[in-house]
Amino acid sequence: LALVERPQDLRGLSIVVSAGGTREPIDPVRYLGNRSSGRQGVAIARAAADRGADVTLVAAHLDADVRPDPRVDVIAVGTAEELGRTMDAVAAGADVIVMAAAVADYSVASIAEGKLRKQDFPGALTLELVENRDIVAGLVGRRRPGQTIVAFAAETVSGEDELRERARAKVIRKGVDLLAANAVGWTQGFEVVDNSLTIVDREGEVVATASGSKDDTAHALLDAVVAARRTTAT
Ligand code: CTP
Ligand code: CA
Repeated sequence: LALVERPQDLRGLSIVVSAGGTREPIDPVRYLGNRSSGRQGVAIARAAADRGADVTLVAAHLDADVRPDPRVDVIAVGTAEELGRTMDAVAAGADVIVMAAAVADYSVASIAEGKLRKQDFPGALTLELVENRDIVAGLVGRRRPGQTIVAFAAETVSGEDELRERARAKVIRKGVDLLAANAVGWTQGFEVVDNSLTIVDREGEVVATASGSKDDTAHALLDAVVAARRTTAT
């Protein structure tokens, strides 16, 4: 393990990172989930600790082999609703918020009290889903002066041009300070060690691209956070 001295450019700052994927219960034994491992968010939390920040990780179902750094305070959550309530509670004290969690866009309209049994749904089962609120949009609406809010976007795209176009549209729609986009697919982005990020600022301009380990991309993202805070502070 190579020990790299990191700049202490986040010293004195409080940073909240969400990571992992939320799960929406269907019944007591089943859920709707997604393929997020939590690896990128956990790497960002560790990288921020390396750079001197006070770090809180709001963790939604990390893969078993993804372990947060011991310097990081971890709050475990399950559903999008729990993640949203937790983010709302911790956001007020945060200088930087990074929403790396994969949040379920919908939850099950009525969660069954008991296990759904096949005999009650012969041949087919239809689940009604209702849209969850947009957590990061709520945080942007209540952003306090000096607070930096970063979103992520995992997109299925045909190439880098489409990734940039989608990142530009999403950063403007969300009103966040930075957005880190990465391409995903059946064989891309998940269950892999390396990652590739395209980072855009609030106007949608690409400020950095980074690829490598999730630690390397985490530090590249934090470089962009530090740079964005410098430009907005002046
Ligand atoms: N996000 C959120 N609350 C939600 C859904 C997403 O805070 N209910 C956050 C994610 O954590 C991420 C950012 O919004 O930082 C972008 O998520 P993404 O799923 O790419 O965007 P959506 O607005 O959900 O649009 P879509 O999935 O349709 O592309
Ligand atoms: Ca979504």
